[in-house]
Amino acid sequence: MRTPIPVLGLWGVYCCLAAGGLRAQGRSLDEAHSSREVISAASMPPVKFNLRTSKDPEHEGCYLPFGHNQPLEDCDFNMTAKTFFIIHGWTMSGILENWLYKLVSALQTREKEANVVVVNWLPLAHQLYTHAVNNTRVVGHSVARMLDWLQEQGEFSLGNVHLIGYSLGAHVAGYAGNFAKGTVGRITGLDPAGPLFEGVGVDQRLSPDDADFVDVLHTYTARSLGVSIGIQMPVGHIDIYPNGGDFQPGCGLNDFIGSIAFGTIAEGVKCEHERAVHLFVDSLVNQDKPSFAFQCTDSNRFKKGICLSCRKNRCNSIGYNAKKMRHKRNSKMYLKTRAGMPFRVYHYQMKIHIFSYKSKDNIEPAFYVTLYGTNADSQMLPLEIVERIELNATNTFLVYTEEDLGDLLKIRLTWEGTAESWYTTWTKFLSGYSTSEQELNVRRIRVKSGETQRKLTFCVEDFENNSITRGQELWFHKCRDGWRVKNETSPTAVLP
Ligand SMILES: *[C@@H]1O[C@H](CO)[C@@H](O)[C@H](O)[C@H]1NC(C)=O
Ligand SMILES: *[C@@H]1O[C@H](CO)[C@@H](O)[C@H](O)[C@H]1NC(C)=O
Ligand SMILES: *[C@@H]1O[C@H](CO)[C@@H](O)[C@H](O)[C@H]1NC(C)=O
Ligand SMILES: *[C@@H]1O[C@H](CO)[C@@H](O)[C@H](O)[C@H]1NC(C)=O
Ligand SMILES: *[C@@H]1O[C@H](CO)[C@@H](O)[C@H](O)[C@H]1NC(C)=O
Repeated sequence: MRTPIPVLGLWGVYCCLAAGGLRAQGRSLDEAHSSREVISAASMPPVKFNLRTSKDPEHEGCYLPFGHNQPLEDCDFNMTAKTFFIIHGWTMSGILENWLYKLVSALQTREKEANVVVVNWLPLAHQLYTHAVNNTRVVGHSVARMLDWLQEQGEFSLGNVHLIGYSLGAHVAGYAGNFAKGTVGRITGLDPAGPLFEGVGVDQRLSPDDADFVDVLHTYTARSLGVSIGIQMPVGHIDIYPNGGDFQPGCGLNDFIGSIAFGTIAEGVKCEHERAVHLFVDSLVNQDKPSFAFQCTDSNRFKKGICLSCRKNRCNSIGYNAKKMRHKRNSKMYLKTRAGMPFRVYHYQMKIHIFSYKSKDNIEPAFYVTLYGTNADSQMLPLEIVERIELNATNTFLVYTEEDLGDLLKIRLTWEGTAESWYTTWTKFLSGYSTSEQELNVRRIRVKSGETQRKLTFCVEDFENNSITRGQELWFHKCRDGWRVKNETSPTAVLP
């Protein structure tokens, strides 16, 4: 069903911005913003508000009679129900894309009585990217005027309004919230556009000031040749960066050096950028499989497994189910996801104190854990070394599973026995170490589940033998709930 045109469109943004197209226009970022003018009332911009009265994308829907002497009731608009406005982004195809109908249908399924309105600004979005950016303000004004008009019609409440904007549409939503008389209930920004918005002031982009609650999903913030399609900076009350916000699983872009074929990159870009929409749709239709995100200062700390806390509202559901967090501002949150719907995974923090009695050099053990639970067993999960392994210290790792393992019972720690590289063998030879000196000791693994917040401690099976070298494994059994360090075994008794 997917036409190749939107793909080409994204490719256009990708290639032309990347190639410095913005500069080629001879306008700086500031100029672009200051030149945004409001279209006069006389020349009404071509923005249409289509109330979706059926899930059928072919269905016409009902155009809200804004500025006409036609009663709103003719449209079956429910004044007291929730109202969603879906705002698309920049387009080169000039047609509404598939994701929009999926989102409409998901909203209609989840909120049966709600009004779902598509804000169609295609003529203003089907422009050079820089012109479309210029138009976001104008379209924001139109949406704000629609909101004001609805409020004049009766019991309509702005608090029931939820603006959902994708890409440039997120900034349109920001302007709309800013210009409307009163405060809009919620704005969700789905991978808000980055070019010409990164780093600008709060009144020129989506910001937490634009609604009572602004939540943002950032899915494609990888900088490539100087630009990021999605905005990197946090612009909401909560800003969620799935998989670090740069590369999404299943989109195939993180290894794009190897797949430089034109179509592959174009589709990859679309896949990464649009992933924000699909995560939101997932949150609507798979309510029983909510994904949780965890507050963290940066992506690396999250990858190290440091941030899996839910204390003081540090975790939240993502997408539609997100809890309002109005006291926070630009709170960055992270999570891992699957490559497709349902996106939910189960996060675990692993705290492992790694002793080293023999090795003194930098060791990068290829550690894997296999988790055995009451429901299922995991695969061998790599313990990713984000910076370096600290010896005689507690190291924290993040692992995640696609399946719900249930209660954890035991853990196997494996040190992958791949042959040493020529380089490491050589440097070891030079520094006088032999492979046999690559021996580490682990007595306990402390595990915290992000999803249940449960903490467990696993003790090595044989306390007399807690050493591990390349190609070996150690087994750990659940020895207590929680992480309380009791002195049930004196530390000296377990020294090798
Ligand atoms: C309008 O929405 C309200 C609130 O959701 C609901 O109670 C009411 O039944 C709806 N009216 C109609 C006619 O659907
Ligand atoms: C921005 O939009 C206004 C009003 O539509 C127009 O007058 C102006 O020329 C536009 N500027 C650019 C750079 O497109
Ligand atoms: C770790 O501690 C042990 C015992 O205190 C010591 O022998 C060893 O040298 C230490 N290892 C490193 C890498 O500091
Ligand atoms: C310790 O455990 C490893 C791996 O299970 C095993 O290969 C080794 O023989 C054991 N050593 C002792 C002293 O039990
Ligand atoms: C832990 O050890 C200390 C000193 O060895 C002892 O006083 C204390 O009672 C022990 N605690 C427990 C819970 O066994």
